[in-house]
Amino acid sequence: MARRPSSYVCQSCGAVSAKWAGRCESCGEWNSIVEEQTGGGIGGGPGRAARSKGRVIPLVGLTGDAKEAARIRTEVPELDRVTGGGFVRGSALLVGGDPGIGKSTLLIQAAAQLASLGHKTVYISGEEAVGQVRLRAERLGLAEAPVSLAAETSVEDILATLESDTAPALLILDSVQTLWTDKVESPPGTVTQVRASAQAMVRYAKKNGTTMVLVGHVTKDGQIAGPRVVEHMVDAVLYFEGDGAHQYRILRSVKNRFGATDEIGVFEMTGKGLVEVPNPSALFLGDRNSSAPGAAVFAGLEGSRPLLIEIQALVAQSSLGTPRRAVIGWDSARLSMILAVLEARCGVRFSQHDVYLNVAGGLKINEPGADLAVAAALISSLSGLALPANCVYFGEVSLSGAIRPVAQAQSRLKEAEKLGFDQAYCPEGNLKDSTSSFRTTGLAELGDFVAKLSVEAGTSGES
Ligand code: TYD
Ligand code: MG
Repeated sequence: MARRPSSYVCQSCGAVSAKWAGRCESCGEWNSIVEEQTGGGIGGGPGRAARSKGRVIPLVGLTGDAKEAARIRTEVPELDRVTGGGFVRGSALLVGGDPGIGKSTLLIQAAAQLASLGHKTVYISGEEAVGQVRLRAERLGLAEAPVSLAAETSVEDILATLESDTAPALLILDSVQTLWTDKVESPPGTVTQVRASAQAMVRYAKKNGTTMVLVGHVTKDGQIAGPRVVEHMVDAVLYFEGDGAHQYRILRSVKNRFGATDEIGVFEMTGKGLVEVPNPSALFLGDRNSSAPGAAVFAGLEGSRPLLIEIQALVAQSSLGTPRRAVIGWDSARLSMILAVLEARCGVRFSQHDVYLNVAGGLKINEPGADLAVAAALISSLSGLALPANCVYFGEVSLSGAIRPVAQAQSRLKEAEKLGFDQAYCPEGNLKDSTSSFRTTGLAELGDFVAKLSVEAGTSGES
């Protein structure tokens, strides 16, 4: 029998090469190249069926009938917010997250919710036995929900089962890495298998108008394991994040063909499963010690939602030749930049000091708008004087020391007002859309800000 053609596929990035190598030329990963059988099967694409001539497809213009995508709302507002207003029928979603973070819990809760609302829901577990899933459902008080459950990993069996009945409204596959199809010969979990299986399932979902949720594992550097192609195949990619030390979990959309990205939903993991957090700012501000120096409240934005977050800095005399800089929850390069701007433009020296920066609550922020709050926390800690307790900060600092406006100042201020703050330092460019009840101070330069802070510290010190 003629040998099936094989190729060498990097299990990290999915790059294909003709021969084996110790290191992938495409992504630089060591020892990630595995020989895989190619050709044929679901992953092989429709081109293999010998067809001499293509069919003529009609080409249409951009204007015409375009109905708003039909959605199934879960009535879990935090989940509906992240998906952009509910699951779109016939769409495929990929939910990634660390092991044990609560992906299966979230999805069984969503499945039970939709099933109780009268939608046909199928949950296929490839990792846990039926008994385990039942046990969890029972613990969550969801055992009565009419969810159809199976423990299965074979794509052919799953498809045959689904096709033997009316198509479900929601199909959950936990996880995509456990799926395998006998149309390709690579072992389960390999790039070729994951790609072929996901493709077959996505095709089923699109054809039958089923919303399909695939659960994906993440690698140690936080990427969804397996080929990037799965991310391209699906309509939305959601990450479920959080850390072991904290109870709350964040569902974040990083790609969404039917809604905004960067939208977040906040949940809390409790003994009774995941519970929505309707007012996350209150959670992240928690029990704040507002009289301690080095803490500044940042009025941030996650997706379309304003969020107040406490930024904590500790500036301490260093005994080392090269002082330490440690950051948790923010970009360390960005911290170096703020320190450099403070030194070069405002004459505030940190070269003899260790600097530690922490975003309270274990949250990760990557918005440049936090620059001003970070600068405020740093100066407060360096001077040993606490910032006013009822004040929020936001603004992007440029290398020249200028403070640049940020998006949606109005909603940031509203959120701050809602939580009892009445004072804000913000970019001058954002002043025109500020509300009157707020004492907003517009800033053009970081230097002005440092001067204002020292004046305030002086007056409060005297009183
Ligand atoms: P799980 O959904 O199995 O995580 P994943 O599918 O992402 O691997 O969640 C497992 C964790 O959640 C486990 O450490 C226990 C915790 N948990 C609770 O705290 N409360 C609960 O009600 C449930 C079901 C799980
Ligand atoms: Mg799981």
